[in-house]
Amino acid sequence: MIYLDNAATTFPKPDKVYEEMFDYMKTYAANPGRGAHDMSIIASTKVLETRQLIGNLFNIEDPFNIIFTSNTTDSLNIAIKGILKKGDHVITTVLEHNSVLRPLNKLKSNEVTTTFLGMDENGNISLSMLKRSIRKKTKAIIINHASNVIGTIQDIEKIGEIAKAKGIIFIVDAAQSAGVIDIDVKRCHIDLLAFPGHKGLLGPQGTGGLFIAPGIKLETLKEGGTGSNSHSLDQPDFLPDRFESGTLNTPGIVGLGQGISYILDEGIENIRKKEEALTDTLLSEIAKLPFIKVYGNKSKVNRCAVISFNIENMDSSLLGYELNKRGIAVRTGYHCAPLIHKALGTTNFGTVRVSLGYFNTFLEIELLIKALKEIYI
Ligand code: ALA
Repeated sequence: MIYLDNAATTFPKPDKVYEEMFDYMKTYAANPGRGAHDMSIIASTKVLETRQLIGNLFNIEDPFNIIFTSNTTDSLNIAIKGILKKGDHVITTVLEHNSVLRPLNKLKSNEVTTTFLGMDENGNISLSMLKRSIRKKTKAIIINHASNVIGTIQDIEKIGEIAKAKGIIFIVDAAQSAGVIDIDVKRCHIDLLAFPGHKGLLGPQGTGGLFIAPGIKLETLKEGGTGSNSHSLDQPDFLPDRFESGTLNTPGIVGLGQGISYILDEGIENIRKKEEALTDTLLSEIAKLPFIKVYGNKSKVNRCAVISFNIENMDSSLLGYELNKRGIAVRTGYHCAPLIHKALGTTNFGTVRVSLGYFNTFLEIELLIKALKEIYI
């Protein structure tokens, strides 16, 4: 199989991810933070190591400001529902995933109002429009860092400056950017950073996290056992325990630690360069096929390795089916991001999405192009 669905989950993972998960299951699969015995202490230490590695990657000073979750959706729900109160206003964009849109839609019933910023043909939002949309009651700005449909990267450094200047909470959805694009929570004034473990960070599914900046107070969506303050009926008010009730996904977290360690060893700049080179090749090869329409930015600049397109007059799901028959895995349809399709003009048929990862090769792109030509004929 030629795997071109890395925006959904990266595959394969570095060998040391598999090895650590296997080692955990075989030799130290105890409950972290729940026992004074050696196995539990080893598990706790490994979980802390992963937290520290995440801190190194995103320039987070205190690793306890990072909570583990099961995916980006989980993190965004904790952030959005934990921060927004009755009557608040929030600014977001039409590029958002349902992990932002659906919680906001639910909060409508609590009189939370939302302004959706539009985008230009390359997928960029307008910063002047963002500034003009700020109201007295604007509590948060929620931005999709890199689009899971067309790959556009938003300028989170500039947006962070705007949010900070106005005292607005800045929430970043890094589902497609974490591990692939350098993110510095301090430089970008990020208050809440939601990220997956199973995509660019090269960990297993069922892992994710949320960075909560010092001073940001969130309501809990879930309460329960934390292994701390066990005599009390109240949920702890300190991090990470406040948001980590129940046994952690330790096999996933130790695997995630190895994924991040691999990224730090390779260098995020090198990962980015390789993905840019692959994207550039795919975009220039696709540009030679007149029967294909690419959506969004046609150059490798200011985008990640996510490319959406269609063959004229062909349903995206049929094209995906034909590619699968030829051993090529892509995603088709709406990619859980309903609002962007109106802007792209793909409301009725969706798109075929190719998402490249660090382990893809130029030969695989050649084979994809060959398959597309074959299918069109
Ligand atoms: N949000 C992931 C995607 O875009 C699952 O495929």
